[in-house]
Amino acid sequence: MYIIGISAFYHDSAACLLQDGEIIAAAQEERFTRIKHDHSFPINAVNYCLNFAKIDIAEVGHIAFYDKPFLKFERILETHLAFAPKGITSFIKALPLWIKKKLWIRELIKDNLEYNGNILFPEHHISHAASAFFPSPFKEAAFITMDGVGEWATTSYGIGEGNNLELQADIKFPHSLGLLYSAFTYYTGFRVNSGEYKVMGLAPYGNPKYKDLIYNNLIDVKDDGSYKMNMKYFDYSVGLKMTSNKFHSLFGGPPRKPESELTQKEMDLARSVQEVTEEIVVKIAKNVVKETNKKNLCLAGGVALNCVANGKLLRSELFDNIWIQPAAGDAGGAVGSALAVWHLYLKKSRSVNKNDSMKGCYLGPEFNDSFIGQFLDKNDYKYKKMNQEPLFDKVADLINDDKVVGWFDGRMEFGPRALGGRTIIGDARSSKMQKTMNLKIKYRESFRPFAPSVLAEEISNYFDINTESPYMLLVANVKKEKQIKMSNEQSGYFGLDQLNIVRSDIPAVTHVDYSARIQSVNSKTNPRYHQLISRFNEKYGTAVIVNTSFNVRGEPIVCTPDDAYRCFMRTEMDYLIMGNYVLDKKDQKKLKDDTDWQKEFQLD
Ligand SMILES: [Fe+2]
Repeated sequence: MYIIGISAFYHDSAACLLQDGEIIAAAQEERFTRIKHDHSFPINAVNYCLNFAKIDIAEVGHIAFYDKPFLKFERILETHLAFAPKGITSFIKALPLWIKKKLWIRELIKDNLEYNGNILFPEHHISHAASAFFPSPFKEAAFITMDGVGEWATTSYGIGEGNNLELQADIKFPHSLGLLYSAFTYYTGFRVNSGEYKVMGLAPYGNPKYKDLIYNNLIDVKDDGSYKMNMKYFDYSVGLKMTSNKFHSLFGGPPRKPESELTQKEMDLARSVQEVTEEIVVKIAKNVVKETNKKNLCLAGGVALNCVANGKLLRSELFDNIWIQPAAGDAGGAVGSALAVWHLYLKKSRSVNKNDSMKGCYLGPEFNDSFIGQFLDKNDYKYKKMNQEPLFDKVADLINDDKVVGWFDGRMEFGPRALGGRTIIGDARSSKMQKTMNLKIKYRESFRPFAPSVLAEEISNYFDINTESPYMLLVANVKKEKQIKMSNEQSGYFGLDQLNIVRSDIPAVTHVDYSARIQSVNSKTNPRYHQLISRFNEKYGTAVIVNTSFNVRGEPIVCTPDDAYRCFMRTEMDYLIMGNYVLDKKDQKKLKDDTDWQKEFQLD
């Protein structure tokens, strides 16, 4: 039996296909439409899933939507009534879309997909919980979901056992750890729902000097991790902005204008909200251990993408094992809602996979060598086709030569991270690589560190961690013996001046606080990427390379060979590897219709 799960209309629309309970395909709509965080109905993602299984929509037994639209609307209505007449503008603004689209999701699914079967609506946090527990490698576990908001719940926990979930408690809107973080994302001048990652990356440059201000005014946290927020400081329940004027006067001024210069203040704010979040997450987890008595923990919801907080949780040793849904944000609701239908609605039994059931996240479209070859020939792009072994040798040498290489291989990843399917790679030992990649390839703020891809069996030789981190969701320090101590002069550096200090043997992936956002590469889930890093290790003695997603700033990660080629040509990437094809930038003709980004991004 086939089940399709859909998440849509908030951010990151996605679709997932289950075959007899097994996750066989999943993708985000943005990859097909090329609109970052596309939240429209995921028609392309659904069609991809159907094509993958070579089935017609009539063969799908159930379609699951990841939340309850009427309940969500009730929350919006009730919140506005409670605050009336304040917020009437935002309500009037939101209303047409709800009346036209969001309330009629059943009809929308029927019409868009010409589907006459059964359509089901698990609750938002059930979808998150199902995405956390059902694909996890545990027979039983506690789960915690934390996000901005779905219908009402913003934090919930409970127990997963076999094929069942039991929700034990929740915290409801407007109190929300996710929205607290988003408020600071907004105030520090980044985009809500995507800039949270930047706040986390900025935090190590700052001091937690606003922590007391946050605890004393914005949020009241009890010992059991439950919390209440003082809504006088926030505008999100009914307004069109995240923070209120009271918030702005508390922190000494209006929000930073997007793209304006980052100052120590933003770094200190980032550090403060990051530490508060970590402390609350650990408190919640402590309470969940006490209440559930479980040794394993599963996490999902947007807050679970905060890999620094996840690393803290891991080191707290409250649980023996932690598994985090890689698509922890709302895209993962597509997986969760489908699994909820299979296990909870249809009561089908669950088999536990030793690694997990996400297949390393390689759930998207794949293009084989014959497709790639035809694509290159048709467009007359110059390439060299190599056999696998010499290819790995060649790419290892390119990395060693400080070249930046696009690596397009196998199925596209599901979820926000590139994990060796659609990835840009480089030498982690190079002291210039972070700057080169940020400025010449990604065209983005240079404070953001890159992630290491490390052979799973070597992870503990480079980082202070003794568990795998296949989805780049855990942060740990570079091992002491690989660190380079700062000179006295360097330890006096502040803010972004700290960026250029070489801190370890693998500086391109070492953040200013010696931490790294680790991806461990397992030979079972991605054999070719594993072989490539192994070859680099054999030849050059380091089992780590730099991995950053294959895209430029503002664009979704590439999906097709055409997307990859365009991205390759628009940046200063040196080589592109697609399957067994090697493309050298020097051999390519400039694309006709292309913006000259190198020129575009100069100061004058
Ligand atoms: Fe959510």
